[in-house]
Amino acid sequence: MSGRRLIIAIDGPAGAGKSTVAKHLAAHFGLLNLETGAMYRAFALKALGRRLDPGDAASLERLAASTEIVLEPGPAGNRVLLDGADVTERIRDAEVTQAASRVSVHPAIRAWMVDLQREMGKAGGVVMEGRDIGTVVFPDADLKFFLDASPEARSQRRYEQATGPVEIAAASEGISAVSKELRERDDRDRNRKDSPLRPALDAVIIDSTALTLDEVLGRIESIVKERLATEPLVRE
Ligand code: DC
Repeated sequence: MSGRRLIIAIDGPAGAGKSTVAKHLAAHFGLLNLETGAMYRAFALKALGRRLDPGDAASLERLAASTEIVLEPGPAGNRVLLDGADVTERIRDAEVTQAASRVSVHPAIRAWMVDLQREMGKAGGVVMEGRDIGTVVFPDADLKFFLDASPEARSQRRYEQATGPVEIAAASEGISAVSKELRERDDRDRNRKDSPLRPALDAVIIDSTALTLDEVLGRIESIVKERLATEPLVRE
């Protein structure tokens, strides 16, 4: 037995289903689910509270030096502690969502986050989800998945998460606001200079536009099982 424990990286754009898939995989294979977007969101929340400009790298770097962010993985998802206070719900606001994408372009902020994430994941037994896990945080991850879907499908899913299932026609107005927000974030996350969102060369790319959650999970779980059968990385 190698004694090493599995590290699974899941990357992809907003609304591609990463969190749902990561949560299921963690439950199925007994892994910790670490949601790195929540860390950028918590930092953005603090920056907004201090009225800092998300483009002001120097002020953000100073703020980071006196900020503690802790992810507490659990079966219902991650709780996020910002300087000891539980901000799990507050970091989902639309304003925080955009600010998270903006503060995450700065190399010093990314370097800080990546160090924390490596520390959290280094013992293995984790499924870590984000934008740069397979490319930067754990380039040697045992398995890498890149989940994608069309912008329309991702906007529709995001909208339904917020409102419950709706007919596309009836929701078109509300969806257009969601899809504008999503496009802006996609552009920023994909085009930033430091660690832009892109699949690692050795990632399995899954486009879920025309797939159900069960189909996506079925594919990913069979790849994980195959890997575990050839090299049993998970220690009892
Ligand atoms: O996954 P999410 O929607 O919670 O992420 C919020 C923002 O955080 C996202 O728009 C970009 C940034 N992010 C990042 O740059 N790198 C990560 N590993 C995770 C998130």
